[in-house]
Order: sequence, then structure tokens, then C-alpha cells
Amino acid sequence: MQKLVITIDGPAGAGKTTVSRTLADRLGYRYIDTGALYRGVAFEAARKGIVPDDDPALADLCQGLDFKFVRHDGGVSLFSGKTDISEAIRTPEMSLMASAVSARPVVREALMGIQRRLGAEKAAVFEGRDMGTVVFPEADVKFFLTADIKTRAARRCRELEAKNIPQAYADVEKEMQQRDTSDATRAVAPLKPADDAFLIDSTRYGVDAVIDQMMGHVQKKLQKK
Ligand code: DC
Repeated sequence: MQKLVITIDGPAGAGKTTVSRTLADRLGYRYIDTGALYRGVAFEAARKGIVPDDDPALADLCQGLDFKFVRHDGGVSLFSGKTDISEAIRTPEMSLMASAVSARPVVREALMGIQRRLGAEKAAVFEGRDMGTVVFPEADVKFFLTADIKTRAARRCRELEAKNIPQAYADVEKEMQQRDTSDATRAVAPLKPADDAFLIDSTRYGVDAVIDQMMGHVQKKLQKK
């Protein structure tokens, strides 16, 4: 069977992670969370006391990155060197820091190479913000998943609660709005759907319904190949 590159972009809290993982499992593809890479850069920058607008220091940091996705029964973990940073990169502070470093061209360029290498074997679902527009403009099937801000903020609150880092709804919504604005208005690779992406609004659809729509588009592509 043909191996595809599938991209799923969209704002925070639209349900990209659950959907991307499920779709990858259904197809027997790898799932690659590119947001984790930006969070990894944020984590390493914070650890070294680098502020997000110090481009020379960020460039230096990016040269020495040693990230690895490791698959296990419970999902995928991100390692930086020998350290599993999967949990540490999920805090609200790392969300904001990741958004800030992701606006720096030096960081985007460094991660572009890493992401394209991960895509070379195909048979992968890439989740991010610019997968279909910048990193894989030739992807076989592109999706842009969104939902209204209230639905997204409520989902993120539930996720944080499940991780034992509860936050007030109002703070989550404010932080999300802030990130949406900075991700969508940055000069390089702003968050927007690719011209040839299928737009899916998950406000009223559950995961299964979204996956069914996606599988329909993927099957059509596989039949054409
Ligand atoms: O998907 P996430 O919330 O884990 O992403 C963290 C930040 O990284 C997000 O604010 C935007 C940025 N990001 C990006 O600019 N490009 C990507 N492909 C993935 C994430």
C-alpha cells in the first residue's frame, strides 16, 4: 500500500493530538507531535537561562539539540539527550515560552530540518501549526482542525486537571487567546490553513466523527494513487 504524509494543523485545544494519534494508529503510521519539539526548545532555553528573543543564543542552542521520540505502550515520549522531558514541557509556562521561541526564524529553521528528516520515510501523521503550509507543502492529505475558543479552553482545562495541574477557566481562555494571536500573527509561518487543506470544525463533532471524515479523505487519496 502507498505510504502517505498526512498533516494536521490548527490552534491549541482543537483536539489535534487525540485525532492525530488515533488516525496514525488506524493507519499503522507514526504520529509526530511537532509542538513537542518547540516545547523542547523552550524547555532547554529556560534551563540555560536563555530569553526567547536572544537569537544568537537560540541559534547556538539549536545546533546542539538532541531530541528523540521514543515509542512505548502508553504512547510516545520525547527525550532530550538521556532525559525524558515529556511531562516537563506540558506546563502553562512552557506553553507560553514555546509560543515565544516558535516566532524566532532561527528556531523554525533548525526544527524544519529535523521535521523533514522525520518525514522522509512517509507513513506519518504530523501534528502542528505549519505542517501543510511550510514544512510539507507537498503532503498527500492536509487537514486544518479548529473549534471555537470556549470549547477549546474547556477541553484544555480538563486536560490540565487530569494532569494534576488545574487552572481557572478564565486564565486558560486568556492564555489560549494570547497564544492564538501570537501564533497567527507572527511573521514567519503563521498559523493558517493551507489552500488545499480540508477544514474540519470539531466544536460539534466528537473524535469518532472527526476521524471518520478524515479516514474518508485518506481512503480517497489511497484509491487515487
Ligand atoms: O501544539 P502545542 O501547543 O504543543 O505547540 C506549542 C507551541 O509551538 C505553539 O504555541 C505554537 C508552536 N508550534 C509552531 O509554531 N509550529 C508547529 N508546527 C508546532 C507548534
